[in-house]
Amino acid sequence: MPTKNTSIHGEWSSRLAFILAAAGSAVGLGNIWKFPYMAGENGGGAFVLIYLICIAVFGLPIMMAEVMLGRRGRQSPINTMKMLSQQENAHKAWGLLGWCGVLAGVLILSYYSVIAGWSLSYVLESTSGSLRYITETKAGELFSNLIASSLTLIFWHTLFMLMTMIVVARGVSNGLEMAVKYLMPALAALILVLIGYSISQGYFMLGVKFMFTPDFSKINQAVLLDAMGQAFFSLSLGMGAIMIYGSYLSQHASIAKTSFAVALADITVAILAGLAIFPIVFANQLEAAQGPGLIFNTLPLAFGQMPGGVIFGTLFFVLLVFAAWTSSISLIEPAVVWLVERCGLTRIKASVICGSVTWLVGLGTVFSFNIWKTYTVFDKTVFELLDFLTSNIMLPLGGLLIAVFVGWSMRESSVKDEIAMSSSMLYQAWRFLIRFVTPVGVLLIFFRVIEII
Ligand code: PFF
Repeated sequence: MPTKNTSIHGEWSSRLAFILAAAGSAVGLGNIWKFPYMAGENGGGAFVLIYLICIAVFGLPIMMAEVMLGRRGRQSPINTMKMLSQQENAHKAWGLLGWCGVLAGVLILSYYSVIAGWSLSYVLESTSGSLRYITETKAGELFSNLIASSLTLIFWHTLFMLMTMIVVARGVSNGLEMAVKYLMPALAALILVLIGYSISQGYFMLGVKFMFTPDFSKINQAVLLDAMGQAFFSLSLGMGAIMIYGSYLSQHASIAKTSFAVALADITVAILAGLAIFPIVFANQLEAAQGPGLIFNTLPLAFGQMPGGVIFGTLFFVLLVFAAWTSSISLIEPAVVWLVERCGLTRIKASVICGSVTWLVGLGTVFSFNIWKTYTVFDKTVFELLDFLTSNIMLPLGGLLIAVFVGWSMRESSVKDEIAMSSSMLYQAWRFLIRFVTPVGVLLIFFRVIEII
């Protein structure tokens, strides 16, 4: 009978600490920057609906599975997978899953940091008052000028990577708990301010209609894949980030309840962000499908016009950076912990190594907005390719493998013992989802079996 493992890297002080850290990982640029532009590109309502279904059918069950694996293994995802496959008499190759996660984390962070850099630069724009009474044309120019300058992007990307490395080098700490506890609600409050502004301008219902009226003719293979990818990305699933946070979770905490709380917080912020942004888009006759620049082209217009806009705008972008920061930490944590375990490096050295590699890869994204703009592979720039490869392929694939491992390779007694759900009906429902629905659903979306609904 395998004994319970303890983590050499410490444990969360409470269940709330875990919820806060996992919510910090989940809520980030994915909710505020990516979700609105993906919804805008994929026709609104139908995308939102499929995204929500994907969260319920794949996201929540996989999140529970990941937390459970993390808590059982109590090491980096690579070593957790290696050790559990031994304990469970499963094939050694399951260890590869951890590797795939480390790679996905580094790749995601490489472009995540560049976008977080955009947010940093908007903190400066906001404080300097340059967003005051800004017109659509000027807001468009501000953004195009920013991304056209590789040096400026490198500066902000470097700053954000340094911020991430400093926190990771010091270890997952109470600082993270505090930051998430106070700053996330503050961010949600500011999004509510934006929604209030939209309501006062009279365009709120247009946004609501766009987000919640599904036009099923818009659903195709690409929309399905994007919505599934967004569900994984937004919940930080499929790469070991949640697994590693699970490894610090105390033995007594309820995995089901904590996962539910994290998923709920994540969806709420994404939906609120959409509700804040689309009314501004329609009020100013902007393009909903304009891509990654969406929030940077629209929000300055609202902050430029509303009373107290300089303060609200500055606060908003500062909090957005914080949200990105608490996510970036979890993206690099699996790689850092693995280096510490494997090579006996200090956290500081491991963070410097992982951070430097990620920074270097990030230059590809920086250049994809300017000097390499015209270089494409499969019609995608470096940034688009990295985003597609990680969100739409690597994360769902990681999630699929986690579901298969938990549902088919682990002994049921171990699973039951670790997940410790009080309701046997809910346990059976979860087990059914993880064994059948999740793997089959992900595969179907992957292999274009569902062409057009
Ligand atoms: N969930 C984060 C966001 O929505 O911004 C991004 C992310 C973090 C993805 C950690 C994956 C991950 F492992």
